[in-house]
Amino acid sequence: MYDLARLREEFPVLERCIYLDSASTSQTPVRAVEAMCAYFYEYAANHGRGSHRLARKTTEEYERTRDVLARFLGVTPGTLVFVRNTTEAINLVANGMSWKRGDEVVTTALEHHANLLPWMNLEKRGVRTVVVPHHGGRVDPAEIGGALTERTRLVAITHMTNVLGTVQPVEEVAGIAHDRDVPVLLDAAQSAGHIPFDAGKFDFVAIPGHKGLLGPQGTGVLYASDLSLLSPCCYGGGIVGEVTLDGFSLLPPPARFEAGTPNIPGVIGLGAAIGLVGELGVENIHRHETSLACLAHDGLSALPGVEVYSPRGSPVISFNVRGLSSHACAAELDRRRGICVRSGFHCAQPLAASLHPGGTVRASLGCYTTGEEVSALVETVREIAGSLTG
Ligand code: ALA
Repeated sequence: MYDLARLREEFPVLERCIYLDSASTSQTPVRAVEAMCAYFYEYAANHGRGSHRLARKTTEEYERTRDVLARFLGVTPGTLVFVRNTTEAINLVANGMSWKRGDEVVTTALEHHANLLPWMNLEKRGVRTVVVPHHGGRVDPAEIGGALTERTRLVAITHMTNVLGTVQPVEEVAGIAHDRDVPVLLDAAQSAGHIPFDAGKFDFVAIPGHKGLLGPQGTGVLYASDLSLLSPCCYGGGIVGEVTLDGFSLLPPPARFEAGTPNIPGVIGLGAAIGLVGELGVENIHRHETSLACLAHDGLSALPGVEVYSPRGSPVISFNVRGLSSHACAAELDRRRGICVRSGFHCAQPLAASLHPGGTVRASLGCYTTGEEVSALVETVREIAGSLTG
């Protein structure tokens, strides 16, 4: 039973506004904030760097999150590297793989900048980014197959776009790529915690902590089925076995990828937040968000002067009010009813600009969104659109 009233008690900020910007970052539940407070008030120390009681407790709590995440994803803890966000996870793969001139990365026209720029940046090392087009927000796995050549070293694909909310047939894509011995990176920025998936079917999965997993900002994780395929990109304390002035030896993965003092409170808070996602159940969250998404789509697409770009059922709903810029519409939604949405290009300019040169207004749902909030969005957009036509 999905007890929305009880769930919302975990998010006091939701009493202050109508928060429809969860694709950007989610609200953080009380239990995660309390876990972070407990770290600061009761045992703050560094991770893996001391034998005193506070350092031991800190290390234990930090590593507990790795175990929680591993159970949540159905993988082993040693395959998970903590990072700051999806962007850092993807950059770790882009900069940690060994490339040679002429190599190719196949990606899609649906990607946000985090899953585009790291590959485009490899151009200076002679690596070509091959972009497969989409059709109404969906890529055709056969077209990805057709883009693979003997030079393809990786397929990097989003699971759910952050502009249209469309879900890609990523398991089919992985099957096609694996048949050709090409590894696949799944960008789960918008899907982790929103739709169930089997991380173990992919070679790399980039996961933010602060979106569907409800953790604090500055947390994320990279899953890699074989971390020995990557070299660290950041060197320093915490990743080495022995150091002399002549050289050093690296600790085994995942430690070798986590140089320097990490975001300890954030990772501990993330562990507590995932506990809530696990209690709710990702299937249930998906069902809840999909039914509200249909409500939003039906309401918005029936309004005169409103253009909806996302298909019905997408929990990320991009639209525009004709005659008003996306930023002006978002500001008006906030001014009239305290409705928080994102506007513009959503860090996915190629896709967002292809829908409208000024980008879109984007309402994105979360596990805590209510039907009343969706109705308030529709009613307020109706008022705004109506005020333009007079
Ligand atoms: N990728 C984030 C968004 O979609 C920042 O808003």
